[in-house]
Amino acid sequence: MDQYVVFGNPIGHSKSPLIHRLFAAQTGEELEYDTLLAPLDDFTACAQGFFKQGLGANVTVPFKEEAFRLVDSLTPRAQRAGAVNTLSRLADGRLQGDNTDGAGLVRDLTVNAGVELAGKRILLLGAGGAVRGVLEPLLAHNPASLVIANRTVEKAEQLAREFADLGPVAASGFSWLKEPVDLIINATSASLAGELPPIDPSLIIPGQTVCYDMMYGKEPTPFCVWAKAHGAGQVLDGLGMLAEQAAEAFFIWRGVRPDTSSVLAELRRQLARA
Ligand code: ATR
Repeated sequence: MDQYVVFGNPIGHSKSPLIHRLFAAQTGEELEYDTLLAPLDDFTACAQGFFKQGLGANVTVPFKEEAFRLVDSLTPRAQRAGAVNTLSRLADGRLQGDNTDGAGLVRDLTVNAGVELAGKRILLLGAGGAVRGVLEPLLAHNPASLVIANRTVEKAEQLAREFADLGPVAASGFSWLKEPVDLIINATSASLAGELPPIDPSLIIPGQTVCYDMMYGKEPTPFCVWAKAHGAGQVLDGLGMLAEQAAEAFFIWRGVRPDTSSVLAELRRQLARA
């Protein structure tokens, strides 16, 4: 049977096997999808071993940059992201790296949530790998402006410079944020620590503002709680992005695009029970 895995460390709680098995059942594709715990100091050997047999893999924390360096070729979006979350063994045996995180976010926003991005003012919180991965797909939708705000302003400035050729992107510190925007995306890892990014209290959140946290959890994240309390019109967490980045990977491997709605509903049910 065709073999797929997700590499990570830790990897025990990954939802990817469940998602891809549900996709396979839904589309009638015959494949196996498991977790593979790679040693922290030996991802490359572990991946090379797997690909003697395996056809494809997802890559999660902390190996996305290492996967970027391992592959024989990169898609343009993976090149821009500087990280790889999807590996495919090509017909000639070479390994190709792609990154479906940004496409997953954009699809969850535009298709699942019906959010228009063209002409909108976007505020991205954070300037780490998660932000780098989504900048190109967001800018491809022609927002009116995209501001990257980060605690360490220099990192936001660096990203703004690197992506300036793709659209109207600027950098900011948190305390400088005063102007209302249409969409705020939290891509900091603050939620992991149960914290809120230090958003200035004077930032106005008009009722039509959409707030999106790339993180998710059993309970609403601190950012989602903050967004609701400040009157955001739509508040979304990152579970849809998780399902959509997986669907994009499945499409790359199998040429079939699964329907994510039933899978997302099952993920929500499981999360509520967890
Ligand atoms: P990832 O790959 O998930 O983006 P990362 O590269 O470690 O992870 O980046 C984490 C991001 O979250 C950074 O932008 C970090 O801000 P700094 O660059 O100033 O460190 C941001 N971050 C983490 N905890 C935060 C907090 N409590 N408040 C605000 N920003 C936070």
